[in-house]
Amino acid sequence: MNEYLEANRKLWDSWVPIHVGSEFYDVEAFRRGGISLDRLELEAAGDVAGKSLLHLQCHFGKDTISFARLGASATGADFSPAAISQARRLAGETGVPARFVESEVTALPDHLDGRFDVVFTSNGVIGWLPDLRPWGRVIAHFLASGGRFAIVEGHPVMFAFDDDDDDVNRTPRPQHRYFATGEPLTFAYRGTYADFDADVDSVEHGWPHSMADVLSALLDAGLRIESFAEHPVLAWKAFRCMERDDEGFWRLPPGVGEIPLSFSLVACKP
Ligand SMILES: C[S@@+](CC[C@H](N)C(=O)[O-])C[C@H]1O[C@@H](n2cnc3c(N)ncnc32)[C@H](O)[C@@H]1O
Repeated sequence: MNEYLEANRKLWDSWVPIHVGSEFYDVEAFRRGGISLDRLELEAAGDVAGKSLLHLQCHFGKDTISFARLGASATGADFSPAAISQARRLAGETGVPARFVESEVTALPDHLDGRFDVVFTSNGVIGWLPDLRPWGRVIAHFLASGGRFAIVEGHPVMFAFDDDDDDVNRTPRPQHRYFATGEPLTFAYRGTYADFDADVDSVEHGWPHSMADVLSALLDAGLRIESFAEHPVLAWKAFRCMERDDEGFWRLPPGVGEIPLSFSLVACKP
């Protein structure tokens, strides 16, 4: 693993206990039951009952366990040892038979056998990966013939915008690279996306990927894109001016203009 991925992995390890105790993830309620997946994720994944499902970059397992609660035979994978051990604990506490594998996403074929009916990933995943081409090949590798890949993710255009100054009313504007160069962007800030007030100094290394990079990575790996949609909503509060809607998604308020905030894509392995 390169030095940036290693630093990111340590960052995620440090975030896991914060996230497990956060209102954002509300683990206490999840232990009692329910599904953490939102409407866009459920639509993209389709009916998973009775299917084998691989969840890439599963964090500490809430969504993986949700798929298992929906009847899938679910496997989650993540490169953070703290996330995987917490995921296994949560599966045990909830009595849900989900399986978890610790691996960097592009190394997963060395750590996991089998083919899956569904490969799923969502919300805060591609920006952690230096290059999407090997990611696309890993997805194709794990999909059974006729299998379905589903992703719901922050839109690459949204990731190029920021509002990182002290003016809460400031409209987000383009501030970061949209097109990939292979070089990471490094951000240092207090807290995490799930707990802005957490007592942690976070330094993350992320890689921009254009929308074309996402599509090309999947097409070049031999997948066929079945559906693609862009949305004016996001699963997390990326900009301070955002407002929450009735479904729990975050939106830009009226009057600040419109950009795509997230996208959903479904592809299949012929
Ligand atoms: C924002 S979470 C996405 C999961 C899900 N949306 C959630 O909120 O629970 C991103 C996850 O990607 C994992 N991750 C980041 N880079 C990775 C890599 N190169 N290989 C495998 N996992 C990685 C992190 O450990 C983290 O758990």
